[in-house]
Amino acid sequence: MPGLTIAPQIQRPKAPQVIGPKTKKATRPTVGIPDFLIDEARQTEPVRWDAEKHLAYEAPAKIVTMKEIGLEGHGISANAVTDPFPLFSKEAIIQMRREIFSEPVLENCRYSSTFNANMIRGMGHERAPFTYDAWWDPKTLAKISEVAGIELVPAFDFEVANINISINDQDAPVLADGEETSAVAWHYDSFPFVCVTMAADCTGMVGGETAIKLPNEEVRKVRGPAMGTCVVMQGRYIYHQALKAFGGRERIAMVTAFRPRSPFVPDETILTGSRGISNLDELYPQYAEYRLEVLEERIRAKLKEEKRRQVARKKFNVADMRAFLAEQKEYIESMLQNMYEVE
Ligand SMILES: [Fe+2]
Repeated sequence: MPGLTIAPQIQRPKAPQVIGPKTKKATRPTVGIPDFLIDEARQTEPVRWDAEKHLAYEAPAKIVTMKEIGLEGHGISANAVTDPFPLFSKEAIIQMRREIFSEPVLENCRYSSTFNANMIRGMGHERAPFTYDAWWDPKTLAKISEVAGIELVPAFDFEVANINISINDQDAPVLADGEETSAVAWHYDSFPFVCVTMAADCTGMVGGETAIKLPNEEVRKVRGPAMGTCVVMQGRYIYHQALKAFGGRERIAMVTAFRPRSPFVPDETILTGSRGISNLDELYPQYAEYRLEVLEERIRAKLKEEKRRQVARKKFNVADMRAFLAEQKEYIESMLQNMYEVE
């Protein structure tokens, strides 16, 4: 049975430190959502998610590898970042927008931070069944996993479809090449992988690329997603920043965070980026539940291995058992660092 032997994680570089937003506690945005977005969304008739109809996957033209950006051996997959590729049909995006700009979502799910002024997070299945069914569909996950180079699942429900909204100033001047400014500062993500999907019409939009800083300080730019397309990136291990987009009416970027499906793959998910922009009564239980499940699986597998050893009358491997325990201790330690009362 695969996955029953837990490979010791030696020599693998640890994930980098992450600096979170200055926002420590869930804060509502002060800016409103323009009526045209709300009116448009409310004209849409709801339909149920149907992978046959709504999945419009086409493989990305190119996937940049970790090796190509000087990070071979870092992270949990050999793949670093994909070219933009279509994932959802136009109808699917329109359905997602219907949920994003629906009354219960706008009332309960808006957040603001020093990183992003206008976000929608934690819509939940009840308020956004189409969006949730789309991201949890095994057919969608198979495609995301294929381009990520490792089997992934959404980190937990609260990180399904974080939406960053910015309304463009139509009169803003278009900058010449090399003059672009950043939308978000240089950073590492809190989650192993992210998928960024563009849920807006990008006609007339320029910029919006992702800049990646290599260990040798060289900066490389990769294309950002256009309407309905997405980019998958191993953001926990890649130093990156989103460059500002100009033109176009609005920018609605949907970011879903992923972790490895297998409990036997190192999982360096942290809550640094999420704690201040989440309902902690939902975030903490979801985080704790998945981590406890991971521990449960690991311990069950280790116990099975130990029982097999006894049957086979092999010598007990002290070093191996200590390495296993140290790894779990570190996993629990990370939970203690990430989950605490916020006053
Ligand atoms: Fe990021």
